[in-house]
Amino acid sequence: MIKLFEPDVGIEEIKSAQNVLQSKLWASGTGTGKVLEFENKFRKYINSKNCITVNSGTAALNLALGICDIKNKEVILPSLTFVATANAVIMNGGKPVFVDVDPDTLNIDPEKIENSISKKTKVILPVHFGGLSCDLNKIHSLAKKYNLKIIEDAAHAAGSSYKNKKIGSHSMAVCFSFHPIKNLAMPTGGLISINNKNHKKIRELLSARRWCGITDRKETIYDVKEIGNNYYMNELSAAIGLIQLKKLDKLNSIRKKIVKRYYQEIKLDTKMQYSKNCSYHLYWVLVKNRNEFRKKLSKYKIETGTHYKPVHTFSFYKSKAQLKITENVGKSIVTIPCHPNLKEYDIDKIIRLVNKFS
Ligand SMILES: Cc1ncc(COP(=O)(O)O)c(C=O)c1O
Repeated sequence: MIKLFEPDVGIEEIKSAQNVLQSKLWASGTGTGKVLEFENKFRKYINSKNCITVNSGTAALNLALGICDIKNKEVILPSLTFVATANAVIMNGGKPVFVDVDPDTLNIDPEKIENSISKKTKVILPVHFGGLSCDLNKIHSLAKKYNLKIIEDAAHAAGSSYKNKKIGSHSMAVCFSFHPIKNLAMPTGGLISINNKNHKKIRELLSARRWCGITDRKETIYDVKEIGNNYYMNELSAAIGLIQLKKLDKLNSIRKKIVKRYYQEIKLDTKMQYSKNCSYHLYWVLVKNRNEFRKKLSKYKIETGTHYKPVHTFSFYKSKAQLKITENVGKSIVTIPCHPNLKEYDIDKIIRLVNKFS
C-alpha cells in the first residue's frame, strides 16, 4: 500500500531515541533537556520572539486560546479543519463562529470574515490548510480595525512561509502540531510561538499551565496559583524532533517537487495550487465520484483521505451556518499521498490513476 502519510525515519532518529531511552530521563514537567533545546532551535528556525513546547497541537490550541479570555466571546474560524481547532474554542468557554473558505486555497475567506464580526468577537483563528498560508495581511488589517487577536493554527504549516518569513513569526500566537504524520514528526508534540510584547510573561503563564499549574519552583519547592494541565512535551519526542527539524527544509522541498508534478500532470481543474512557500502537509483534489474514486485507488493500493468533514456538520457542532463552499468541498475532497518517502514510480502511478479514475 502507498501510505497517505508516513514519517521519514533515519538512523539519526533511532540513535537519538535510543540515547534518551538509555538515559532513563524520559520526561520532566520542568521542560529542560532536549525539550528546551528543541524549543530554542525551533524559535530560531521560525525567528519568533518566544516559544513554548507542549505535547500536541491540540494542547497548543487549548493553551493559546486560554491567553485571550474568550469566555462567552466569539472566535472566527473555518469549519474545514480538524475538529481540535474548534474544540479548543469550546474548551475555553468561547463560541466558534464558522466562516466559509476560499475555493482556490481552501483557507478561510478573508472577504467573508468581516460580515461575521460582532461585538462579541475576540479572536480570529485561521488555519493554513495543507500548509498553504492564509492571506495574513488581510486578516491582520481586519484584526487591527476591530481590535481582535489572531491565533494561527499552523498544524500543517511547519516550514511554510508568508511574505518571505516563516509561519510562526507573524501573529500573537501560532500553534504547531508535531503529530507523527506532520511535516516535522514526533511520537507526540506541539508548540506555541508567541510574538507580542508581553511574550516573556505569557511564556511564564503557559509554562505553569502546561504542568498542573506549578510555578515559582526552587528545587523541590513550588507554588500553584491556578490550575493547569499535563501538557508538557517528553524528552523522546524532543530528541526525535531535533533531528526532524534539521531535515525539515529538505523534506519539504521533496514534497514541493512531488506537488509540482501533481499540479502540472493531474488533469483535474479542481486541485491544490503550487506554491514555493507551502509545506504541503497534504495535497487535495476535488472529485465528483468520491467514493468510487477512492475505492478504485484503494484497489490499486493507493491510500487516500477525506480532510475534512466540516466541523459544523458534526452532531456536537450542528449549526445553521451557510457554508456552501465548505459543504461542497467536504463532499468532494480527496487527499492523496505527497510525503517524501514516495518513489518516482509511486508518483507516476498516483498521477496515472488519479487521471484515469477522476
Ligand atoms: C488543523 C489541525 N489543527 C490541530 C491539530 C491537532 O494536532 P494534534 O494531533 O497534534 O493534537 C491537527 C492535527 O491533526 C490539525 O490537522
